[in-house]
Amino acid sequence: METKIISANELFLAVEEIKRGSCVAFPTETVYGLGALALEEEAIQKIFNAKNRPSDNPLIAHISTLSQAKELAYELTDDFFKLADTFWPGPLTLIVKRGEKVPASLCARHPTVAIRMPSHPIARRLIDEVGAPIAAPSANLSGRPSATTAGAVLEDLGGKIRYIVDGGACELGIESTVLALCGETAILLRPGSIQKQSLETVLQKPIRAPKEGDQTLSPGMRYRHYAPKAKVRLVFDLKELKGSFILPTSQSLYHELREADRKSLEEIVIFCDEEVQKNEALMNRLLRAAGQMV
Ligand code: TXA
Ligand code: MG
Repeated sequence: METKIISANELFLAVEEIKRGSCVAFPTETVYGLGALALEEEAIQKIFNAKNRPSDNPLIAHISTLSQAKELAYELTDDFFKLADTFWPGPLTLIVKRGEKVPASLCARHPTVAIRMPSHPIARRLIDEVGAPIAAPSANLSGRPSATTAGAVLEDLGGKIRYIVDGGACELGIESTVLALCGETAILLRPGSIQKQSLETVLQKPIRAPKEGDQTLSPGMRYRHYAPKAKVRLVFDLKELKGSFILPTSQSLYHELREADRKSLEEIVIFCDEEVQKNEALMNRLLRAAGQMV
């Protein structure tokens, strides 16, 4: 299959492709997503196949209206509405109890569903024009760094999908914050640009980090992730730095990792200065890319 990069003017092609039950890559404010109909079993299967994603790692359903969240969830709590009102549209994914209409394969058979309302205008128009929730993991091959440009999507998924909608480089460059709202206490499953403290301020109660027994709550945590082919070495002390290195930001990390592979580097040295160490989301991805959090 020939893969075409199309502009937002040709979005109708992507809309038709998704309505036909196929996958399309599109930009969001975090990273590019690989989208297909969230409520159609066969469409979901195509996402897992294109990414080579393990079937036990569930997908996020992307919505453009709150009424779509009501269709997906079994029930929506006050906490859900507090967070949705404050942070949506935006880089926050909320995990809630799953409703009956939702195919089990979307959620990897978990009793929960992940929901996010993205803010990127192209993503919003796509969901609106399709008129239904769109399942979308990051548009990379499973385990690889997420794609933050149309070109990076093409590297991983070229030949596997018909269209990539080009929205330029993603503004945030790092995936959404994932928060589980299913138990007594909310659990921060994946740090992102919306910080724990801002979530706690809105909820007016503490949230916690995942513990050992929570692993099945967050299947994505089990895999080596975000990793280039090159070995990733993190350096925390300026004195240990020799030769060339990267000083990463949330916006540039995945681009730099992919760039290293384009140059066939064997090793990438990443300097984690104080600024980087303070950035929880960035440190989380760096440790995973370096294989230190599997
Ligand atoms: O920013 C983002 O979230 C991007 C853009 C495209 O929206 N999407 C993204 O999707 O990062 P993905 O599939 O690469 O990561 C989704 C994460 C995975 O770690 C997955 O395990 C977790 O969310 N997840 C999804 N559904 C879940 C559920 N029902 N329970 C627990 N974790 C879930
Ligand atoms: Mg991903």
